[in-house]
Amino acid sequence: MADIQTATASPAVHEPPVIYRADYQPPDWRVETVSLEFDLDLSATEVHATLGIVRNGDHDRAVRLDCDGALPQTLAVDGQPVNWRQEGSRIAFDVQGERAIVTLSTRIAPDTNTQLMGLFASNGMLCTQCEAEGFRRIIPFVDRPDNMSVYEVLLRADKSRFPVLLSNGALVESGDLDGGRHYARWRDPHPKPSYLFALVAGDLVATRDSFTTKSGTHVDLAIFVRAGDEGRTAHAMQALKASMAWDERVYGLEYDLPVFNIVAVSDFNMGAMENKGLNIFNSRYILADPDTATDYDYDAIEGVVAHEYFHNWSGNRVTCRDWFQLSLKEGFTVYRDQCFSADMGSEAVKRIEDVRMLRAAQFPEDAGPLAHPIRPDSYMEISNFYTSTVYNKGAEVIRMMATMAGPERFRAGCDLYFARHDGEAATCEDFVRAMEEGAGLDLGQFRRWYEQAGTPQVQARLEHDAATGTATLHLRQNFTPTPGQPAKPLMPIPLRTALIDRDMKAHRGEMLVVLTEAEQALSFTGYARAPVLSINRGFSAPVNLDVARASGDLPFLVRHDDDPFARYEALQQLVIDRLIADIADMDGPGAAQGHAVSLDEIIAVFGDLVSDQRLDDSMRAEILSLPTEAFLGEQMLIVRPEAIHVARKSLRKAIGSRLLNQWRIVHERASSVPYSLSREARGARKIKSLALGYIASAEAGDAAMVAFDQFARADNMTDRQGALAVLASMQADQRETALDSFYNRYQGNALVIDKWFSLQTGSAHPRVHEQMLELIRHKDFTLTNPNRVRALYWPFVSNQAVFHEASGRGYELLTDLVLKLDPLNPQTTARFIAPLGRWRRFDEARAAKMRDCLERILAQPGLSKDVTEQVVKSLE
Ligand code: ARG
Ligand code: ZN
Repeated sequence: MADIQTATASPAVHEPPVIYRADYQPPDWRVETVSLEFDLDLSATEVHATLGIVRNGDHDRAVRLDCDGALPQTLAVDGQPVNWRQEGSRIAFDVQGERAIVTLSTRIAPDTNTQLMGLFASNGMLCTQCEAEGFRRIIPFVDRPDNMSVYEVLLRADKSRFPVLLSNGALVESGDLDGGRHYARWRDPHPKPSYLFALVAGDLVATRDSFTTKSGTHVDLAIFVRAGDEGRTAHAMQALKASMAWDERVYGLEYDLPVFNIVAVSDFNMGAMENKGLNIFNSRYILADPDTATDYDYDAIEGVVAHEYFHNWSGNRVTCRDWFQLSLKEGFTVYRDQCFSADMGSEAVKRIEDVRMLRAAQFPEDAGPLAHPIRPDSYMEISNFYTSTVYNKGAEVIRMMATMAGPERFRAGCDLYFARHDGEAATCEDFVRAMEEGAGLDLGQFRRWYEQAGTPQVQARLEHDAATGTATLHLRQNFTPTPGQPAKPLMPIPLRTALIDRDMKAHRGEMLVVLTEAEQALSFTGYARAPVLSINRGFSAPVNLDVARASGDLPFLVRHDDDPFARYEALQQLVIDRLIADIADMDGPGAAQGHAVSLDEIIAVFGDLVSDQRLDDSMRAEILSLPTEAFLGEQMLIVRPEAIHVARKSLRKAIGSRLLNQWRIVHERASSVPYSLSREARGARKIKSLALGYIASAEAGDAAMVAFDQFARADNMTDRQGALAVLASMQADQRETALDSFYNRYQGNALVIDKWFSLQTGSAHPRVHEQMLELIRHKDFTLTNPNRVRALYWPFVSNQAVFHEASGRGYELLTDLVLKLDPLNPQTTARFIAPLGRWRRFDEARAAKMRDCLERILAQPGLSKDVTEQVVKSLE
């Protein structure tokens, strides 16, 4: 009967159960101690576990262990075999008394683990990824972050194939066994949740160094990589030591074990993982040398190494009570790594990069069907919540508290948080309360930033009364509904603000205006002439700002604002206004409204900035970069991909050709700076490739030659990739020559071949789609390596005019990928649903095609929980 019903029922989707934050209950049983023995093998690993469990509270409920594909082969309680029963994704058995020793064993096959969660194989080595719920794929366990245990881990393996055996904590003993095998025993004294467990076994080479903490403890540092990669670990090691020193200096936080190990693996779903004392990294965030890594890669490595290291306190010493609290560790740790990177390099440039990333990924997420608060209320699959909202908006929320408190009081709040919750599994509310008490802030209304999804909309207008010399700032906040949150209470919005005198080109000091009401007006006296409003300086609040301005104000701010972010912002806005007007003009003259400045004025501003002595090259390059097509699309209610592409291209061409001589001078000047990692040299490389891009956009007759020359003479990856990116968008013979030579030179270096894929599918070449079809069939393309899949497909889906080609073939190509990849790796697949989920923002013809693709995905039998959740929400 049941079978017949399913067979004839409409293709109703089997929706995974929803888990609610409000349903939180502490675990019925806790695991206090864990002893694990592994007999490691690629295809058959035996695991024996001895768990010291304790009844948690006064109840008579069974022991329930989370289990995912690793059912126990044997299970005993206090030495007596017991019968267990399966209850969905758990096993249950009864235990009398308050405590017991549970022994169990499993047998798993790491080499068939294509999900890369739990214990998996990568290039002949074995390693783990347990966050969020991977540990249960190794043994059944109380696999939740509020269950903290002390671990001892014994690893046994063939000595020649797995000479290196690592786990958390410190090595206790090691030695040889019969039959060419050996063992290593590791012990981690810090109680930890299972998501921080890790092991690595493989033939790896270590780069070693050491660090002495401020209280004098010696720490052995090592970075383990595959043989041949050891020459590319120096930058990561340097970043690690700098992070350790920075956390002591800025937060007073010291490392707490005698060893800190890092391992690089090439098959990894995410960036990296903060396992206690044994961080495991996607190799792209470890390996770098000038020949293979760009300056951007160097920065990303520094940032991710710091991020994982900082988790040792914000994440490990104080962890999360449940996964709804994920932003407690991720938002805070992203904020910490952002500040670290700002200190290591340029604060202004770092802020621009972070905001650009927030707007490229988080704002669209917050405006679409997958919008969720930084502390979500429910989920089907927690892996889907490692989002830009939880991470990057989470960091902005911490930043706002830091801005309101000021550095000393913010530090006092952090101190209280770490002191009060050390060794605990805490909540976001715990953090906010510590910040209230420690920093002396009233965060009553501010808590809404944890509860509400969606980017607030702020309108600002400066009114001037010449008679009284009064400038009045009118502010208003608005919200658009998000899924499940039709109406939203008001939020406190901290806006760093300055009023700049038109004659003096200076202000009397920056103010922090916190908008707490729906509408607010603030008056300032002593302004005979209307000042120019500089607001949300440094992007102090993650909001969309709409400022009513006189048309000369933006060029004024670009030239004279003393806040570097505000200068960047003013030029972006100037360009956006112009392009939106140009797009409107395509519908017929006069269709454009508003007061966008003229093209001549934009060219004049660009011309000034190219040679502005106050700007270093790195900042200059940031400011002079045009907003992406996707970002322009975000500014429109209904995205018009072709119109945006055409308008932006023609603006680039105008900026390129009318300033051609200046671009050439910049390109030449920057080309004469020799390679080094100094700030000046890095800035020169950045402006060099930007200038090259404008020379190409000008369609200068020699552009392909100039680009090829930069490519051929490059002695570093930044220049080489910069030139190749420009060539990849051109229709010139040099394009193929350069791409082939790049490929041949780096064949076998996976991270660089990833770049080769990305440069082509992210290009503005007219035949990207055809190239994409060829690359999918390329011998180096594989679905089993997440880096490679992302390298090929992510630039493609972000390439707005190509992915959203009216024919819909971009959508079909992505759908094909989703259907093929989901059975192998649901977590990585689920990330590709969001681009199709944006259908409401497109015209009806495109929207229908996008929805069809989502339906086609949903109809696939056996679709993963990860993808199902994203598709169902996208169609709602
Ligand atoms: N905690 C890691 C980090 O942010 C991310 C790991 C997430 N992994 C996952 N499979 N969802 O550094
Ligand atoms: Zn993290």
